[in-house]
Amino acid sequence: PRGAARGDDGAVRLAGVDVRDLAEEFGTPLFVVDEDDFRSRCRDHATAFGAAHRVHYAAKAFLSVEIARWVADEGLSLDVCSGGELAVALRADFPPERITLHGNNKSTAELAEALDAGVGHIVVDSFFEIARLDKLARDRGLRAPVLIRVTVGVEAHTHEFIATAHEDQKFGFSLAGGAAAEAARRVLASGGLALVGLHSHIGSQIFDADGFEVAAHRVIGLLAELHAEHGAEALAELTTVDLGGGLGIAYTAQDDPPPPAWLAEQLRTVVAKESEQAGLPVPEIAVEPGRAIVGPGTVTLYEVGTTKDVALGGGGGRRYVSVDGGMSDNIRTALYDALYDTRLVSRSAAEGERDGGSVLSRVVGKHCESGDVVVRDCWLPDNLAPGDLLAVAATGAYCYSMASNYNRLPRPAVVAVRDGRARLLLRRETTDDLLRLEMT
Ligand code: LLP
Repeated sequence: PRGAARGDDGAVRLAGVDVRDLAEEFGTPLFVVDEDDFRSRCRDHATAFGAAHRVHYAAKAFLSVEIARWVADEGLSLDVCSGGELAVALRADFPPERITLHGNNKSTAELAEALDAGVGHIVVDSFFEIARLDKLARDRGLRAPVLIRVTVGVEAHTHEFIATAHEDQKFGFSLAGGAAAEAARRVLASGGLALVGLHSHIGSQIFDADGFEVAAHRVIGLLAELHAEHGAEALAELTTVDLGGGLGIAYTAQDDPPPPAWLAEQLRTVVAKESEQAGLPVPEIAVEPGRAIVGPGTVTLYEVGTTKDVALGGGGGRRYVSVDGGMSDNIRTALYDALYDTRLVSRSAAEGERDGGSVLSRVVGKHCESGDVVVRDCWLPDNLAPGDLLAVAATGAYCYSMASNYNRLPRPAVVAVRDGRARLLLRRETTDDLLRLEMT
């Protein structure tokens, strides 16, 4: 987080709050969100794209009522992809006209809730859904603004992208087979839907612009086809090209992600160039960052419970450091081989290393399987001991939001820190919470 600092006493402070006090007051594992970091990343994105374009925070990365309030305060829009995420946003009084509903299989109830709440946009993803939403809107005497999710045949991950053959997936209407053009025909012919945009999302944790450029090229190619078929007047409301989320963040010192201003510049340039070449008015750009806003500013605090040294071939060894959470609060290492960085934060590193330097360590959780790894490889002080606190960095995105009760572990608490003060956003689950659904 931008507000992290290690004091002379060796203790780490987040936004001026000593992590040892946080562990003492709220227990561990604990997610600690640096509020100013979150807000400043919202503002970085808003400034980078400017008032002519729209930045939506992707709630799936992490949402709570208070987070939704920060997003609203900072003037961003919000993407939700389920009735549950919508309910959290509405509980926060998030302005419904700034909410977009996503998903490849929204239920009739979710679509109806979204219409009744007055959400600003719905991204349609199948022919069945177009018919379903059209009926729900007509029943209510509405014309619901929709974007068509387009499968552009690009899939991007981290440092590479592949621009062929990714039609084979569950999301969107494919360009190649003409499904996207047919979706537009049906929306335009409907009485209950207004076609206001085209949408594409190519992947996540992306560090370069190539994939976005190919996606923009193809989406604007579709826009041109639609203009040729239907004429400008029929498409007067179709003014938005939404290029989805995906900007990457630094998980370790090796990662060097580009700033949002760079991405904004690339997208503005390619969208302007492509639309001018096609003889179209330049559309408004929308983006949907999740990870790049919430990821970097959160750490997870864990308490060390045990350590164990295991001999490896060739005379080397590995230390297993067991902490009090694991794959139930961060499944990303087990699921995606994600890399994380961790530090001893309850003592100074110098004190930590006084007796014997650092040792190659693996931070593991307390779950009943050997894949329960939080940090695969890291160097931690040799004299690490039970009771020490570790902070794992950049855990704001897709950790709490993908948390589970595996092995009946209660979900951790989430606190926000700002100006030397801590505030509980989500309390820790209790054993009673775990038993709450039992019917006998
Ligand atoms: N928009 C759409 C339509 C999306 O599907 C996603 C992410 C986003 C925006 C936000 O993407 P972001 O800016 O956060 O990369 N669980 C995985 C990531 C799954 C992303 C799913 N969709 C992980 O932990 O890496």
